[in-house]
Formats: sequence, C-alpha cells, structure tokens
Amino acid sequence: MSAEIKKIGVFTSGGDSPGMNAAIRSVVRTCAYMKIDCMGIYRGYQGMIEGDFKPMDARSVNNIINKGGTILKSARSMEFQTKEGRKKAYDQLQAAGIDALVVIGGDGSFTGALIFNKEYNVPIIGIPGTIDNDIFGTTYTLGFDTALNTVVDVIDKIRDTASSHNRLFFIEVMGRDVGHIALNAGVGAGAEEILIPEENLGLERLLESLKRSKESGKSSSIVVVAEGDKTGKNVFELKEYVEEHLPIYDCRVSVLGHMQRGGSPSCFDRVLASRMGVKAVEALLEGKSSLMVGIQDNKITLTPISKAIKGHTKIDKELMRVSDIMTI
Ligand code: F6P
Repeated sequence: MSAEIKKIGVFTSGGDSPGMNAAIRSVVRTCAYMKIDCMGIYRGYQGMIEGDFKPMDARSVNNIINKGGTILKSARSMEFQTKEGRKKAYDQLQAAGIDALVVIGGDGSFTGALIFNKEYNVPIIGIPGTIDNDIFGTTYTLGFDTALNTVVDVIDKIRDTASSHNRLFFIEVMGRDVGHIALNAGVGAGAEEILIPEENLGLERLLESLKRSKESGKSSSIVVVAEGDKTGKNVFELKEYVEEHLPIYDCRVSVLGHMQRGGSPSCFDRVLASRMGVKAVEALLEGKSSLMVGIQDNKITLTPISKAIKGHTKIDKELMRVSDIMTI
C-alpha cells in the first residue's frame, strides 16, 4: 500500500450512465474497508474547481446501488479546459487534502484526467461510465447493458403497435459516433435493418431490403438507426425518403433520446461497477496512476488511459453477420 494516499476524491463527469452510483458506492466502501478517507466531488471537474466536496463514509452510500443517474451530479466544464481552471482545481484538492482521484466517465473525462495528471502529478484512475460502449480497453462500459435492456423493452412495445397497423418504424437510438447500442439492441429486438455510423451501405440498398421484406410477407418492420448514422441526413429525412420511394409503407419515426440514459441499472452493471470500484481504489493504493479499469474475458484489467482514449472500439462484425442472417 502506498504510504502517501490518505484521501481519495471520487467524481462523475460527462454524460451520466446507469451504474455510476453503484461505482461511487464501491469506491467509497472500498476506501472505508482500507481505512482511508473518501471525498465526493460534486459536478465533475467544475465542482473540483469550486471546491464542491463532501466527505463520504460507508453509510453515505446506502441505498444507491439501484439508482440511475449520479448522486454526485455531472457536468461538462469549459473552465477545466484552461490552465487557470486546472490550477484552481489543484489548489482546491490540496486545501481539502485529497491526494488521489477516481474519475467515472467517458473519453472526454479521461482526456482531462491525463492532462491534469501530467501537470500536477495527482494519481488518477478511470472507471468507464458511458452507455455508448465506445472505450478501448474494456468489453463493457458501465451503463451499456442497462441501456440495451431499456432500448429492447421500448422497441418491443413499438413493435406491438407497428404490427397492428402494418407500419414501418424508424427508431433512433443513441450513439453519436458508434453503433454498438443500435447493433446489439437491434439484434435483441429483432430489427429488420440496423443502420450504424461504421457502415454506410446507402439508401438504394435500404430500399431494396425493405422491399424484399414486404414481399416476403412481413407485417411490420423495425429499422434501428444509430444517432450518428450517415445513410440519411437524419432519421426524419430517412423516413421521408423511404415513404417517397417505397409508397407501399406507412412510416413513423420514434427518437428514444435520453430515456436511454436513465433508469435503475441492470444486475450486470451493478456487479461490474462494484468490481471496477474495488480495483480502482486498490490500483491507487498500489501506487498506480493514469490507468483505466476495464473488463476483458470476464477479468478486471487495467489499461493506460492514453490507450483507452486513442483506441477505438470496433463494431462486432460477427454480430452484423448474425443480424443479416436473422433478417432473411
Ligand atoms: O453519453 C453519450 C451520449 O449518450 C451519446 O450517445 C449522445 O450523443 C450524447 O450522450 C448526448 O449528450 P447530451 O446529454 O449532452 O445531449
């Protein structure tokens, strides 16, 4: 155990995700178990700059493992992107006696952490919390599994009304840069088409496939579209294009939006968060820094944050093939 670390600060940053509270709980309780102090930092880097801190003991995280969102709140701080902002944050940490950090967030949060560590040498460990599952060095990010369950549940409901009216639904799901939610939820919900940013097969192919679908006797169709997909300009234009060129369909659009980020975390995300929190504190106490906790082959691993933010997660080609076969 490193002699220097007596107090760890924990915070959530960037877009929230289900499982963040379970991770906070795990970090706080591991600190209590190891008999070191833990400080909650509110509103991410902005709260760090403003000294918005609160001591946390084992009991302060009672009954939060099942809660969505983040009790520590989250923010995207412009001020932390400036040297002056980071200096203020460092001074606040010093004044509060915080000598190491656990950041729970996505790649933007990790980039800030790396810069801060380089400038002030504060040890820092990352826990990947984002529904997008777009972070290299972990098979699953916190919140991805819960978001998938939410999306599949909603698509099941949409399918009920879609098939009652023989309609074609375009359902937009989150994923600004990546199609992991779209692909996995699309396969899980039995979508006819899945449109993702990683692969643009074009409008013509979409029309052909939808035509074939109709001819093969399908009573309704679900097209799952990732937010960042480039097949059409956006999901509404995509719907208009298909309606115009394939009048056999009565089309509707449903944009799922931020409901995908809310809700009680799944058991998978709670267990993952608990495992990751323990590892994050242990890594700090072993004198490690600038690493991200991940899960690979069901083992908790550590990856340099520099790799986690640079590397891109690849879309699962095998799952794409499975999807193609399923939509015969
Ligand atoms: O958390 C990542 C993400 O869910 C993206 O998929 C989405 O584009 C974005 O957040 C939305 O962010 P905001 O809440 O800032 O609009």
